[in-house]
Amino acid sequence: MEQHKGTKGSGLALVTGAAGGIGSEICRRLADRGLTVVVADLDAQRARAVAEELGPTHLSLAFDVADEAAVELAFSKLESDHGPVRVVVCAAGLLQFEPNGDRPLIKSTELELWNRSMAVNATGVFLCARAYVRRREAAPVPHGRFITFGSVAAQLGGYRSSASYIAAKSAVLGFTKALAREVASLGITVNSVSPGLIDTEMLRSTVTSSGAMEAAAAGIPLGRIGTVADVASAVDYLVSEEAGYITGGVIDVNGGYRMQ
Ligand SMILES: NC(=O)c1ccc[n+]([C@@H]2O[C@H](COP(=O)([O-])OP(=O)(O)OC[C@H]3O[C@@H](n4cnc5c(N)ncnc54)[C@H](O)[C@@H]3O)[C@@H](O)[C@H]2O)c1
Repeated sequence: MEQHKGTKGSGLALVTGAAGGIGSEICRRLADRGLTVVVADLDAQRARAVAEELGPTHLSLAFDVADEAAVELAFSKLESDHGPVRVVVCAAGLLQFEPNGDRPLIKSTELELWNRSMAVNATGVFLCARAYVRRREAAPVPHGRFITFGSVAAQLGGYRSSASYIAAKSAVLGFTKALAREVASLGITVNSVSPGLIDTEMLRSTVTSSGAMEAAAAGIPLGRIGTVADVASAVDYLVSEEAGYITGGVIDVNGGYRMQ
């Protein structure tokens, strides 16, 4: 590790959904920034692979963000072994489809699917936030950062995703503001990144016909699908000390697909 990196921002950063397309790129950026990264995902094997790629000072952890006991245990174990978590990035997300690949319409959405979407996409953020805030109240850190993931789907009522996903991501946007207000006095900033169409497995799972990616790109003012690097850059900035006066906000990373 180069010496200057440590001065750019040190401490422990927990990234959920860190084995995914966007999450793994965020891990690389935060490791470059000098943070010790905890690569957390439901998929233990892929999380381990990402942590190994980052190097021996980084860790991997497998837990379900929707499981209250598992989240508490993860934070407790992490902090007792490695000290306080300074940065949390909640990138875990779940976009579900019907068995035949169609997006579930509201009229045919089973309660089980709805509940799982809310549990992973929204409740998981609440559980991680609560675990983090309780510990930061007891043991404050300088420049605390909490970053959530919304989606352009929640902002536009998305036509590639499902109502359960859109509703859960809308909840995250509201929760982000509530949390920002509650923890401002602890010096913790809370912001959301709202990706548009980003080239990951999640987006490709919505593409059902050939040429659909090109067609989607043509509808974006900047003329291309976003990359995981585009999204990780926004997270990297929000984590920086320079972003210390930004809280309760949303950074849209969507190539102009949706403008406020
Ligand atoms: N790719 C896009 O176009 C896009 C657009 C808007 C928003 N997003 C959001 O960005 C974030 C990252 O998405 P991505 O494209 O990298 O998706 P991805 O599917 O590549 O990665 C998501 C990761 O979350 C993990 N995960 C799922 N359920 C989990 C759980 N219960 N506990 C812990 N981990 C769990 C998965 O194992 C996976 O590694 C998500 O929150 C997603 O909703 C993505």
